[in-house]
Amino acid sequence: MDPNGKIYKDFLNRIERFKIQNGPEKIKKQHDKGKLHARERIALLFDKDSFEELDAFVTSATPDTGLGKIDEAFGDGVVIGHGQINGRLVYIYSQDFNVMGGSLGAVHAKKIIKVQDLALRVGAPIIGLMDSGGARIQEGVASLSGYTSIFHRNIQSSGVIPQISVILGPAAGGAVYSPALTDFVFMAKKTSYMFLTGPDVVKEVLNEDVSFEELGGAEVHARKSGVANFIYEDEENALLGVKKLLSFFPSNNLENPPYVETSTNKDKNAESPGTIVPDDPNKPYDVKKVIELIVDQDSFFESSEQFAPNIVTGFARLNGIAIGIVANQPKVLAGVIDINSSVKGARFIRFCDAFNIPILTLEDVPGFLPGLDQEHNGIIKHGAKLLFAFSEATVPKITVILRKAYGGAFCVMNSKNIGGDYSYAWPTAEIAVMGPEGAVSILHKKELQNAEDPKKLRKEFAAKYRQEIANPYIADEKGYIDEVIDPANTRKKLISAFKTLENKHIEQPARKHGNMPL
Ligand code: HXC
Repeated sequence: MDPNGKIYKDFLNRIERFKIQNGPEKIKKQHDKGKLHARERIALLFDKDSFEELDAFVTSATPDTGLGKIDEAFGDGVVIGHGQINGRLVYIYSQDFNVMGGSLGAVHAKKIIKVQDLALRVGAPIIGLMDSGGARIQEGVASLSGYTSIFHRNIQSSGVIPQISVILGPAAGGAVYSPALTDFVFMAKKTSYMFLTGPDVVKEVLNEDVSFEELGGAEVHARKSGVANFIYEDEENALLGVKKLLSFFPSNNLENPPYVETSTNKDKNAESPGTIVPDDPNKPYDVKKVIELIVDQDSFFESSEQFAPNIVTGFARLNGIAIGIVANQPKVLAGVIDINSSVKGARFIRFCDAFNIPILTLEDVPGFLPGLDQEHNGIIKHGAKLLFAFSEATVPKITVILRKAYGGAFCVMNSKNIGGDYSYAWPTAEIAVMGPEGAVSILHKKELQNAEDPKKLRKEFAAKYRQEIANPYIADEKGYIDEVIDPANTRKKLISAFKTLENKHIEQPARKHGNMPL
């Protein structure tokens, strides 16, 4: 081809028009809102020069209704393609708010579907960066159809490839359902929000005044609804978080998570995690400190930190191997299991199981949260989710009982009876049908009623109960746990135990799927 000829010049001219559309003034428009441009976000996420864009020149199908010049809207408001993150293939779509508010029309949807299909076909994770006004009004049903096809692919890909949604602007209307169907949702504070119906509709229908932030900001979705698993001060940090999260995952459900060399200096003269747990069973402590002393240095990455903090979920490495951790948090509500913590734990466990990530359970739980509110809102049904998730998971599963393992909570928190591979307890463990206070009230009701000093007697009975019934040695002697271990050996023990489970394989009965209580 002649480099000075018409054919080549036409080609260059086309590229120039594309550059103008994505020129500095468009990028400034985003920056002025405290946001990055769709392509800047991609550049931050992917390894240098690894991103390959697809369909950059497709044009919009939006009819020219005089509502805006759309004939030059190359790309139709979304950038798609693939590249490498930490050397591994990842597909992406990144909505461009500068083109018709990132709204989703037929071509925009077709592009997203293209990368969804490719990612599923080759078995690579997919990331969606959302910044969109939702269904494109001018395209009507074509937009709705596009969204629905995206949802369908989200569901088909669920449990096959990791799917991550990053909300970096508006996500309104039905558009929120694609993120909700993916595995993890990230949000940037102040610039992102998600809701089904916006403040105007809320005002109209309910006559309530709410701001975008109050209705669906990052804090709200992290703390109250649990829709957002990770929130960050800004977009840059959110994207760094995405990279970190991906480092724990295999590319698809047929692979194992990648091994990553980590610091293991803990093995020498490390502080025992047992020092964190007080002998007094009524004293709280922070289970995250226990986690830090067990896993590889600085490897713990907590998910859904702000939602239901009475259960802690997150990923970490143990001698370089990725694991998922589910831990009761005695610092919050004494670590009790309630509706929100059940749902949070169950969803996390199911992700780990789908992607071959072994699960470590750290147990210190006084039981399920009693009361009208919990019962009326369905703790029976929701608590069953946690039980179901632990029980159906076939990945290696190990439990360490740090302190309390009372009642139904003992059964639910990955007991050996629901398929836990190994169950260890620390000498501080208390394993029984219920806590001493409840047990004493039932077993010694009459003696306490007739006692001169019932308070003193109650204390004596409770001490006896702890010593004779609620200790870990009975469970050990009867084989309900595998061993009472020295807390100082926990890390070593776990590394060796997970190693034995490397080739774990469980045949499941043939069925379409189980019927998890929803
Ligand atoms: C077409 C849209 C659009 C949309 C925004 N734009 N949303 N165009 N369809 N849904 C265009 C605007 O006309 C404007 O074009 C440009 O994008 C930027 O929008 P602004 O309003 O100027 O931006 P801002 O003030 O930042 O407000 C952003 C916004 C607001 C809050 C998102 O645009 C908004 O409320 N949009 C509608 C949101 C919505 O209700 N979407 C439908 C939800 S229902 P110009 O040419 O002026 O730059 C839905 C159903 C899906 O999504 C169902 C799936 C099953």
